[in-house]
Amino acid sequence: MTQPEIVREPGLMQQRLIAQKRAGKTVAVVPTMGALHAGHRRLIAEGRKRGDILVVTVFVNPTQFGPNEDLDKYPRTFDSDLEICREEGVDFLFFPTDALMYPQGYATYVETREMGKRLCGISRPTHFCGVTTVVSKLFLITQADVAVFGWKDAQQLLILKRMAQDLNFPVEIVGVETVREPDGLALSSRNHYLSPQQRSEAVVLSKALGEIQRRYQEEHETDSALLRQEAFDRIARDSSGRVDYLEVVSMETLEPVGRIVPGKTLVALAVYFGTTRLIDNIRL
Ligand code: PAJ
Repeated sequence: MTQPEIVREPGLMQQRLIAQKRAGKTVAVVPTMGALHAGHRRLIAEGRKRGDILVVTVFVNPTQFGPNEDLDKYPRTFDSDLEICREEGVDFLFFPTDALMYPQGYATYVETREMGKRLCGISRPTHFCGVTTVVSKLFLITQADVAVFGWKDAQQLLILKRMAQDLNFPVEIVGVETVREPDGLALSSRNHYLSPQQRSEAVVLSKALGEIQRRYQEEHETDSALLRQEAFDRIARDSSGRVDYLEVVSMETLEPVGRIVPGKTLVALAVYFGTTRLIDNIRL
């Protein structure tokens, strides 16, 4: 097993990776906020295949949390994160502090405008600006050739692809399918906030999405309004979840579409169980 080299200082991380690139190596990066689980592990394994040098970043990025969100209680599990990185053959673990990433006087932000205002952007208006800002910094610090993200956060992945294209980042963005619990619930560090009752109800999210997929694939139903209504009804019937949004949108713009366009449509939802907000999606 390799022992990942832990680097905390952005300038030092950048120097170490510039040296690797000058030696002809390619760099694959997996950005995370830590609390690593089997979903992250799948991304790390993908990164291992795609770069000579594999970097995992662990940083609970304060700029992507709103004032009333879970920044302070977000789980921090560095020892087990390190162990997973060791098992997965990670070369560098970049683990900066808030002050190293956003020192006094920090003033520069990156924003992907309309796409960041839709779906999760309605209840989290500053979230995606925080994500695009930190990921821009991580791309430059790590000199990434390839970066791996999960389809679990489909809006994030699509925004980052847009950003990389718009800003000419020389980075290939790779998406990895959502890793799920045996009952279908998408793995998320936020699942740990659920009570046992909420946890068993939360299966309704993947069930509702699965039903939309079945209605489309087997019965050729493409009417977004109808498919949405059926999913809403099912969530209301089978759980105490409160729907934040449930939308059928274009994968290019994230704008709602009246009918499913094959290969280009995202069905995305966010549902609150108590104060815990869970997201999930499927692509059609
Ligand atoms: P985090 O929530 O830690 O997720 C890191 C990566 O793991 C993201 O690309 C996310 O989509 C992926 N991921 C999470 N759960 C997954 C699952 N069940 N299956 C597959 N992939 C999964 O997303 C972030 O951190 C941050 O916003 C970040 C991009 C690091 C910027 O701060």
